[in-house]
Amino acid sequence: MKLAVIGTGYVGLVSGVCFAEKGNHVICVDSDVDKINRLNQYESPIYEPKIEAFIERNLKAERLEFTTDMSDAIRRSDIVILAVGTPSMDNGAADLSYIKAAVKEIAAAMDGYKIILTKSTVPVGTNEMLAKLVASLTDHPFDFVSAPEFLREGTAIDDTLHPDRIVIGLDKNELAATMIALHLSFSEQIFITDIRSAEMIKYASNAFLATKISFINEIANICEKVGADVMEVSKGMGLDRRIGSSFLQAGIGYGGSCFPKDTKALIQIAGNVNYEFKLLQSVVEVNKGQRFQIISKLRESLHQLKGATIGIWGLSFKPNTDDIRDAPSLEIIELLVREGAKLKLYDPIAMDKFKKVLDHPSIKWCKDAYAAAEGCDAVCLLTDWSEFSQINLPRMAATMQNRILIDGRNVFSKDQIESSGLEYYSIGRPLINQYPPKTANVM
Ligand code: UDX
Repeated sequence: MKLAVIGTGYVGLVSGVCFAEKGNHVICVDSDVDKINRLNQYESPIYEPKIEAFIERNLKAERLEFTTDMSDAIRRSDIVILAVGTPSMDNGAADLSYIKAAVKEIAAAMDGYKIILTKSTVPVGTNEMLAKLVASLTDHPFDFVSAPEFLREGTAIDDTLHPDRIVIGLDKNELAATMIALHLSFSEQIFITDIRSAEMIKYASNAFLATKISFINEIANICEKVGADVMEVSKGMGLDRRIGSSFLQAGIGYGGSCFPKDTKALIQIAGNVNYEFKLLQSVVEVNKGQRFQIISKLRESLHQLKGATIGIWGLSFKPNTDDIRDAPSLEIIELLVREGAKLKLYDPIAMDKFKKVLDHPSIKWCKDAYAAAEGCDAVCLLTDWSEFSQINLPRMAATMQNRILIDGRNVFSKDQIESSGLEYYSIGRPLINQYPPKTANVM
């Protein structure tokens, strides 16, 4: 099929290359000339494993094009995929100005029937509102379809090529055959529903996953006080198929471009119809506080942050991405700088991005994890990059001033720590090598 994809962010670019990989002809459109030039030289504007190979292969096979010419792309396509951002506004609601602008351009360029397929995450009712907007601007026929995207950064290509399910929202049964034909090679699990429900499925899914994370983080905080181990608790809970084991990894909370934005937007969506989504409000609140567990543990172990040298491992909101949007690291580091700590930062990929947002004379940028730990009073692990779990802890401990490791993602096992000589704090697990050892008084 002939597809135009509007927007080359995470969703647009990954969807575009994956549709091309499956044999469709795809024209990806973006207004950013520099971005398009780089893409045409096989260079991805986002860090995502495998993506550059996919771009190169499909460009060379002439199944993929990158352009700034939206009108030409629309005219040469049967299906126009909307994948522009819907960022948070100050009140938490989704900002629909980019998607409205894109739709106006589509309407102006239309020269015949088009299916407009929305992959951007949009509040319930948005596709209907956009359809009215297009109808007011053109006489050409069209249909809107909602096809929310569930890919995760860092595993975006595999998630898109092998999704658990595909959700399609449509309001005319005749559209189902085309949508099934377009998506069948990705998954046989295609769930067809109405447009409003499809829009809600995306928000409800993200809100539910965020709820699992905040839930296990609160359990972790209680585990610490009662002397239980949240890793064991998650494992034991996850064995129940009704609960499932995923998204029960306790830590310093979720960040990124989706969960923070979409949870706030769903609270707004509910608020607009006078419904107070109390559970989700608490999920957001718990998540906001969870990152400061790092600071509490630093205060507990060091007593004084002013003048302390603190190493930071990991800045991105999760591993395998350079994305620092809403990353817990931002607030943690900002606070440590304010408190007068000296910081040594290291991340395998995200340092350049981080530096542009937050830099300070008390921050030293380090070439690897060992360099970031050297001479430190404490090291805090904020992102669970796999390279951190491979670190030779005794070697690193030997270079530290005070041997304190605060693991915000529960990366290290008891065995690894016991032989390391480090005083170890993690999230929701008993302290290891603490002097003097403490046992919780629970009764
Ligand atoms: C998420 C959704 O998973 C995806 O379906 C949607 O399309 C976009 O939002 P993403 O933000 O890329 O994807 O990352 P994800 O892997 O879901 O992790 C989100 C955050 O939750 C990260 O900060 C991660 O560290 C945290 N997390 C995840 C936990 O703290 N514990 C867990 O058990 C799982």
